[in-house]
Amino acid sequence: MSILLTGGAGFIGSHTALVLLEAGYDVVILDNLCNASRESLSRVEEITGRDLSFIEGDIRDGDALDALFARHAIEAVVHFAGLKAVGESTARPLAYYDNNVTGTLSLCEAMQRAGVFTLVFSSSATVYTESSTMPLAEDAPTGRPSNPYGSSKLMIEWLLRDLQAADPRWSIALLRYFNPVGAHDSGRIGEDPNGMPNNLLPFIAQVAVGRRERVSVFGSDYSTPDGTGVRDYIHVMDLAEGHRAALDVIRQDTGCRTWNLGTGRGYSVLEMITAFERASGRPVPFDKVGRRQGDVAQCWADVTRAGQELGWRAERGLDDIMADAWRWQSANPYGYRG
Ligand code: NAD
Ligand code: UFG
Repeated sequence: MSILLTGGAGFIGSHTALVLLEAGYDVVILDNLCNASRESLSRVEEITGRDLSFIEGDIRDGDALDALFARHAIEAVVHFAGLKAVGESTARPLAYYDNNVTGTLSLCEAMQRAGVFTLVFSSSATVYTESSTMPLAEDAPTGRPSNPYGSSKLMIEWLLRDLQAADPRWSIALLRYFNPVGAHDSGRIGEDPNGMPNNLLPFIAQVAVGRRERVSVFGSDYSTPDGTGVRDYIHVMDLAEGHRAALDVIRQDTGCRTWNLGTGRGYSVLEMITAFERASGRPVPFDKVGRRQGDVAQCWADVTRAGQELGWRAERGLDDIMADAWRWQSANPYGYRG
């Protein structure tokens, strides 16, 4: 029996494929390569010494999904596929609702036709209502997200809960990621954003490697210890292991359950820059500029539930994150392109 990873050629999917292969699972990947390259998967095969099955295709293509489920004995699906650029989602909301919400609907319909009812979904801490009280536990209020990307994640959570309530054969994990960063410690796979990075750590890494001049620090007047935004940065390998733990739990039981995947502590933008300079031995020049629209001051996870119910917690610290991110960036300055 195999695990299907939609969007498995991307950043989090490729690291999760590696963890699942190493744990002995067979892995099938469906990805339309709109934000990834096939090279990530060749490297996963090289690191693990195991083959995986790759199908280039779209989750909105019901016929392609039916063919995939007919050909492979799929036991469970980990659903990463989606668009994720917050700013772009504001300019192209229909593309985001179509890809993310309609895509998930199409996937669930195909799973139902194939009799596969075990699903892990990539949700996000962005579904939580802005709060001055940290940490955020899974029962903290979810609210109206500040962009269509966030709304699409919340809509999918509702869709999946309704689906499970209507048909108790379903077993669903809603995994709310905090800020995934870092890379596998081989330096062979990592985050490879298209064009200008939206996220902090890839931007810092591209400055350190000489691809960009300076980091813009968005806002230095927040009510945080140094005035810059605070986030819960989780090593992508810890996150990948969290998926394995969730799969192991939901394969035993039905229901729809939510788990935060974070570390339980936050770091500021300035702390991130300093830690990267320390790991890389390179200067990371920065300018303090105005706040970015839609950003919250601070966000970190209460990880108690994942610890108790999944037997999982993040093991890697900030220095591991930075060392691994730098190993990947310095060995692959232009990502999978060289
Ligand atoms: P990514 O862009 O690297 O991976 C997503 C993958 O999905 C890509 O390989 C892309 O080619 C593929 N894809 C997109 N639309 C598709 C479609 N219609 N059919 C088939 N494949 C499609 O992103 P990531 O960082 O690995 O994120 C994975 C998931 O986790 C996404 O759903 C994202 O929204 C969610 N998430 C990411 C973060 C983060 O900061 N990286 C935080 C919270 C949640
Ligand atoms: N930041 C900068 N300069 C940059 C980029 C980011 O100062 O060039 C700051 C932001 O203002 C924020 C922090 O760095 O304070 C982290 O920003 P990111 O863009 O890296 O991450 P976000 O917390 O904004 O968003 C991420 C993902 C979303 C996800 C969210 C969940 O991009 O997909 O985490 O918390 F929904």
